[in-house]
Amino acid sequence: MEGIAAGVFVTGTGTEVGKTVVAAAIARTLAAERRSVAVFKPAVTGLEDRVEPDHELLRRAAGSTQSDAEIAPYRYDPPASPHLAAALAGERIDPEVLRETARAAGEGAEVLVCEGVGGILVPLATDYLVRDLAVDLGLPLVVAASPGLGTINHTLLTLESASAADLEVSAVVLTPWPEQPTELESSNRETIEALGRVPVLTLPQLNLAAPDTWPPLQAFGSL
Ligand SMILES: Nc1ncnc2c1ncn2[C@@H]1O[C@H](COP(=O)(O)OP(=O)(O)OP(=O)(O)O)[C@@H](O)[C@H]1O
Ligand SMILES: [Mg+2]
Repeated sequence: MEGIAAGVFVTGTGTEVGKTVVAAAIARTLAAERRSVAVFKPAVTGLEDRVEPDHELLRRAAGSTQSDAEIAPYRYDPPASPHLAAALAGERIDPEVLRETARAAGEGAEVLVCEGVGGILVPLATDYLVRDLAVDLGLPLVVAASPGLGTINHTLLTLESASAADLEVSAVVLTPWPEQPTELESSNRETIEALGRVPVLTLPQLNLAAPDTWPPLQAFGSL
């Protein structure tokens, strides 16, 4: 398939590590620069537990008018891996639908901000991982990770997995980054930068209700 003109694919070291917040902050940074931004998430699961599902926060941050289905073609109630949530609903996630929906979203805007599901090796279908989708979309990765204990290993594993598929990684973003980082957190940042050979950015605690108060993630202002 033809690559999408400009954008990023936000993955993370796992589930609940800040992918949506990082993707939303990138989308907001671009929208504040008056760029038109589309967002995409291959599948949303756990709808039954969420006050504001990922596709809604992404849409709000981007100032997008995309429909739910245009952002996230597969949406399921149970908090499960997408391939299992689809199976429980008697469905199968079709990689071609994902590629087409992402391409259409990218065509409708100047920049496309995608959020993965869970970590980079999560199956979307039994034979199609989040990493395969990132490769097919041809977008550079951004890796969301926690600042604290355990993050060096999780982040370096993710970078190694990206590298094994020849995926470019633009940056790691540690989130939420405290106002006064501990010695461990500061050291984690430096160690990931040195061992991962990748820029490591930080995102402070954001008031998710008010995107207009968010500080820009400068590195993404000119995507
Ligand atoms: N910079 C931040 N500001 C405010 N909240 C944050 C920040 N970073 C992470 N969080 C909080 O951490 C939790 C997980 O973040 P988020 O929903 O972005 O993770 P995720 O990786 O997208 O999860 P999922 O795997 O479910 O998609 C949320 O409660 C979110 O509000
Ligand atoms: Mg998310």
